[in-house]
Amino acid sequence: MPKIKDIPQVDRPREKFLQKGPDSLSKSDLLAILLGSGIKGKNVQKLSQQIIKKFGNNFLNISIDDLLKISGIGQAKALQIISAISLVKRFYEDKESNEIIIKNSKNILSLTYDLRDKKKEYLVCLYLNARNILIKKEIISVGLLDKSLLHPREIFQPAVELNAACIILVHNHPSGNPNPSEKDIKIVKRITGASDLMGIPVIDFIITASKGSYSFYNKLKGQSANVDYVADGVQGTLFDLMEAEKPTYEVNAEKIQETYFYIPPVKKNYIQLQNRRYIGSKYKLIEWIFSILEKECSGDSFVDVFAGTGVVSAVAAKHFKKIILNDFLFSNYAIYQAFFGNGEWNKEKIENIIKDYNSIERENLSDNYFSKNFGGKYFSQNSSKIIGTIRNNIEDNKDNLTTKEYYMLISSLLYSIDKIANTVGHYDAYFKKDFIDDKFFMRPIDPISVKNISIYREDTNQLAKKINADIVYIDPPYNSRQYSRFYHVLETLTKWDKPSLYGVALKPEPENMSDYCRVQAKDKFNKLVQDLNVKYLVVSYNNTYESKSNSSKNKITLQEIKDILAKKGKTKIFEKKYRHFNAGNTNFNNHKEYLFVTKV
Ligand SMILES: C[S@@+](CC[C@H](N)C(=O)[O-])C[C@H]1O[C@@H](n2cnc3c(N)ncnc32)[C@H](O)[C@@H]1O
Repeated sequence: MPKIKDIPQVDRPREKFLQKGPDSLSKSDLLAILLGSGIKGKNVQKLSQQIIKKFGNNFLNISIDDLLKISGIGQAKALQIISAISLVKRFYEDKESNEIIIKNSKNILSLTYDLRDKKKEYLVCLYLNARNILIKKEIISVGLLDKSLLHPREIFQPAVELNAACIILVHNHPSGNPNPSEKDIKIVKRITGASDLMGIPVIDFIITASKGSYSFYNKLKGQSANVDYVADGVQGTLFDLMEAEKPTYEVNAEKIQETYFYIPPVKKNYIQLQNRRYIGSKYKLIEWIFSILEKECSGDSFVDVFAGTGVVSAVAAKHFKKIILNDFLFSNYAIYQAFFGNGEWNKEKIENIIKDYNSIERENLSDNYFSKNFGGKYFSQNSSKIIGTIRNNIEDNKDNLTTKEYYMLISSLLYSIDKIANTVGHYDAYFKKDFIDDKFFMRPIDPISVKNISIYREDTNQLAKKINADIVYIDPPYNSRQYSRFYHVLETLTKWDKPSLYGVALKPEPENMSDYCRVQAKDKFNKLVQDLNVKYLVVSYNNTYESKSNSSKNKITLQEIKDILAKKGKTKIFEKKYRHFNAGNTNFNNHKEYLFVTKV
């Protein structure tokens, strides 16, 4: 028996394959390549020839046991051969299969082409399995399509018999016009309602006519062209899309004022949580938000993950037993500790300290970090001297203050400087003036008593992995404007680490730059939604996407929010016309505030 290396190179299977290609090889040569080696006394070519000869045309049907009977074939080699055969069979099966996979409305239209030119109205149902493969196409009705004549049973009974996972309906308009009539819309609503009860989703309702076609699915997705029914592994259904499109929810303002709005009225000489200028504050929308929340959500715990001013948490604290609030800004954290923190504090002590601060002789004060940087710019020279002096004093006096008192003094200072800042409300720029009034006067903040509250200063996406609650309120920034840059003076005053400042606006090195203001916003939001362990997600959104100014443009589109939330659960959308912050280039027309409520 010649060893394989004794066979001339050109006749060895591998060499032959490489030189002349697979067609030049016999079946046994091909098998020899697959096996790689023979056994003692039987080279691989001999072994392969023996197998091919033994099984001949039955080769594709051999079993492991058949192979094990041949000397020289152990389990490993037998598995190699059977796996190769199975692999080839699998590909052939796929190729020859006559399964029809339905991906989008275009596939449906090619399967129901004949309906276009029919003289009578037809309703046809396509029943699909869980892989969207067509099981059966059935005519449900012929003649005028009428809600009163069509019973959902006629559609769903075959679905149950066929074990269908979902269905698609196709209807023709002999008039040639594919646009849905009032009757069609009513029928779609009725059938999708029944589909939700039956647990057999309707994926699409398509109207076909000589002048074109109309897909409810494409329309609700906001697309005129074809949209695939399955995106990111999730099957879209008409019911979910229609739920997301529910109309505006209107509420009676007076009733809400009484029922939902719990922030106490302003006390003379005290500062309330909402008394500050803050971009994106939901203070003016709070009644609307809570009127929806109360109807749509239930539970004991509430998380405000992008809390900003904290006004939403303040009202939530009256509705829910447990509150968690978070924002990554140092100044917001100080404000939450001051207003909501549970530590000890003495009212009289705070009032006396602030009284002393207000009686400091400002004209004779020496310059300090705050006045050197911001004097004559964001504040008058004298006001900034006093602000810096007070901040230094709070720090020097820290050992005599409880944590709550420390933050109460810092927050009282933060709110008081907002009242006199020479700006439009944020610190991206100051007004160029020859003279700025010395108006600084410090007033104490008025804390809100909340029993069960947790306060965080973390990146929201990190926090999301650690917490769980019944309801989460999500109100991220949606454009490229960074809060840490807009409120840098408040951050500097809170941290008081006296950093070097740069540029005309005197900003420190960037810190707490939000990914929600960058291109990755959508991915961050998606990850956040997926990671949150909650029963309800309540998301605020406004449609600045249409804005002409680039910095005002939304980093996440309305459709992207809808799609991301739809993966988490059934989502309802509420909308309201609202004027919001703009830096000048933004057109206010049609600006709407949206609230998404997703039941997980
Ligand atoms: C639109 S505002 C929230 C307004 C708030 N709902 C209110 O009524 O005042 C967004 C907030 O998210 C904070 N923020 C942005 N990105 C963040 C992140 N990655 N982690 C934590 N907070 C963030 C900002 O500091 C800002 O206060």
